[in-house]
Amino acid sequence: MTSKLNDQTISRRAARMRASEIRELLKLLDRPGMVSFAGGIPDPDLFDIEAYRSAYSEALSDGDRSLQYSTTEGYQPLRRWIADYMCRKGVTCDESHILITHGSQQALDLIGKLMIDPGSTVVTLAPTYLGALQSFSAYEPEYRSVRFQNGVAETNVTAARVLYLVPDFANPTGETLSVEDRKAALALARRAGAIVVEDAAYTELRFEGENVPPIAALDIQESGSIDDSCTLFCGTFSKTLAPGLRIGWICGPTALLQKLTLIKQASDLHTATINQQVTFRVAADNFEIAVEKAKVVYRKRRDAMLRALAAYAPEGLSWTSPAGGLFVWITLPDQIDSAKLLEKAVERNFAFVPGAAFYPDGSGRNHLRMSYSLLPEDVIDQGIKAFCDLVREEIA
Ligand SMILES: Cc1ncc(COP(=O)(O)O)c(C=O)c1O
Repeated sequence: MTSKLNDQTISRRAARMRASEIRELLKLLDRPGMVSFAGGIPDPDLFDIEAYRSAYSEALSDGDRSLQYSTTEGYQPLRRWIADYMCRKGVTCDESHILITHGSQQALDLIGKLMIDPGSTVVTLAPTYLGALQSFSAYEPEYRSVRFQNGVAETNVTAARVLYLVPDFANPTGETLSVEDRKAALALARRAGAIVVEDAAYTELRFEGENVPPIAALDIQESGSIDDSCTLFCGTFSKTLAPGLRIGWICGPTALLQKLTLIKQASDLHTATINQQVTFRVAADNFEIAVEKAKVVYRKRRDAMLRALAAYAPEGLSWTSPAGGLFVWITLPDQIDSAKLLEKAVERNFAFVPGAAFYPDGSGRNHLRMSYSLLPEDVIDQGIKAFCDLVREEIA
């Protein structure tokens, strides 16, 4: 029997959703011997399985509460832990300003539902995080781009609903916005009547240099209190503890959080009770240790990738030098299309993510994203050598 479903019988927004060709190609990455720089997921060897085993066991021994429905806002001790963490970053708040979400990906979806009507303007850097574009696109915005340069926001946008930024070690570029650029972002949001969505997925993974204050903290300094601020800070335990439990949060002004809570309630009632309890226990005991361990591992891999690029890159290739996070962004000579290059790369058993996926308008074909998060240093070295050899052949 054939399905009666087709693009005319489902919603316009779902009809517009397409699986990307790239994701299809990346399914080949499970092939034995494949060196994949594509993923960008945390190294599973960093997951503290014993800490999780005992935290689940303790949560279950507390009685049936861990298996019961719970409030949409989230598990109170975890919200309090997160509020303390936010205060340490200069985001003065209490637990009433924290909504627990199903990863920060759900936060982006809830914010899209809260802020975006069809045709609303969403401002992003180009390139930006592909998953944010996927979440927001369901609500049919118009995308406009902004560039920050020495504390100036370069854009001709005058009105917008959302300014979305990954200020620390961005996915996909690895770049960090300076404090001046963050202030310019806030000023732009105020002028345009937008909220800032500050996606802090990689903030903890700084390998060197001074922390830059979150936009949410700068906003509170300027506006006087979190309830007068216009920033929604999206945090996550995915890159520090483990992504599989799907625990993230939104921190922001009460008026917006109340609406977001209603939207979440309609979507999933609440985030899994036991996973919140377990995350609280593991974070309370292990957060700083886990972050330190992750930084040591990822820093060595970042160094290996930058060393290999410096050693093997042909003339005409350039790349970012991230001070943290999981990604290096590579720019090829103009004439090389990174999606076509990927097909050849896969034949030679290595892979990366072509750049166009990260641009709202699908441009950026001569860029690509490499992640060093999963590979040992010697494999990174050989993989980058193979990549540079391929690019050299393409240039010739
Ligand atoms: C910039 C950025 N934001 C959000 C996410 C989603 O993370 P999670 O839903 O696991 O918190 C990711 C995942 O890779 C990301 O790179």
